[in-house]
Amino acid sequence: MLSYRHAFHAGNHADVLKHLAEVLILQYLVQKEGKPLRYIDTHSGPGTYALRASFSSKNREFKSGIARLWDRGDLPSPVQHYVDVVRSFNASSELLFYPGSPAIASAILGAAHRLQFFELHPADASILGGWVGRDRRIKVAQADGFLALKAILPPPERRAFVMIDPPYEVKTDYDRAISALENSCKKFATGVYALWYPLLDRDDVSGFVKKLKAMPVKSLLVEFPVQSLTGDGMRGSGLFIVNPPWILHKQLEDCLPYLHTALAESGASPWSIRSHRE
Ligand SMILES: C[S@@+](CC[C@H](N)C(=O)[O-])C[C@H]1O[C@@H](n2cnc3c(N)ncnc32)[C@H](O)[C@@H]1O
Repeated sequence: MLSYRHAFHAGNHADVLKHLAEVLILQYLVQKEGKPLRYIDTHSGPGTYALRASFSSKNREFKSGIARLWDRGDLPSPVQHYVDVVRSFNASSELLFYPGSPAIASAILGAAHRLQFFELHPADASILGGWVGRDRRIKVAQADGFLALKAILPPPERRAFVMIDPPYEVKTDYDRAISALENSCKKFATGVYALWYPLLDRDDVSGFVKKLKAMPVKSLLVEFPVQSLTGDGMRGSGLFIVNPPWILHKQLEDCLPYLHTALAESGASPWSIRSHRE
């Protein structure tokens, strides 16, 4: 079953959290460490999103996400970095386009770096392939990103950031995400990994989060509810980051209060961030 299309959700609060972290991680890895890096995106989506096109304009989820940050003059510096990257995809001051995770990586990574994108949905894989065009840094495959990851680690550069952003449209995505992360950390222990997951009613994801916390790795667990954690549907989102840059905890801690005020509904459960050192 492949009915999920991320265009319906582009630029929402969950994208803000995951793409903010992606920008901060990539900027750190290229600026502070300098050497060639491989960016691997297991669930890439179509690449970029036209927010006025039919899918994105249907629910207008970006209105309660990136749009709430767009015209603010008081953004904390980490959020400013993220919004600047989104601005680089918009020719005018109007918010018309939103970059997905592969587009964000391709904007930050220069010619020395390599990028690998996997997307299973035929339509989104084809849009992604068209968008990448002849960019020699990038390989795109219409393939199962969980399976592909097994085959490509460790990368030749021995430095990589892996973004794992499943739709969780099928329940098996939860177990597959955990196994993919566990296997990848065994094969390539020094990689940086970010796994996104939805915050559902507390009971629905507690087993999943427990398994993440039990992993014997250096990690950062960020949870960002935009509603109270009881009730139906997605209440917010979480990120589990393995081998995070040392500065990331502080960067996120500094800007999450601002983001929560900007994006969460009144009565939302509080955000949290926890470091776990192996
Ligand atoms: C949450 S979206 C990704 C959004 C994207 N990372 C971004 O930031 O714009 C999840 C994507 O994974 C795709 N997908 C679902 N199962 C997959 C699998 N096993 N392997 C690769 N892609 C998959 C879906 O078609 C969808 O485009």
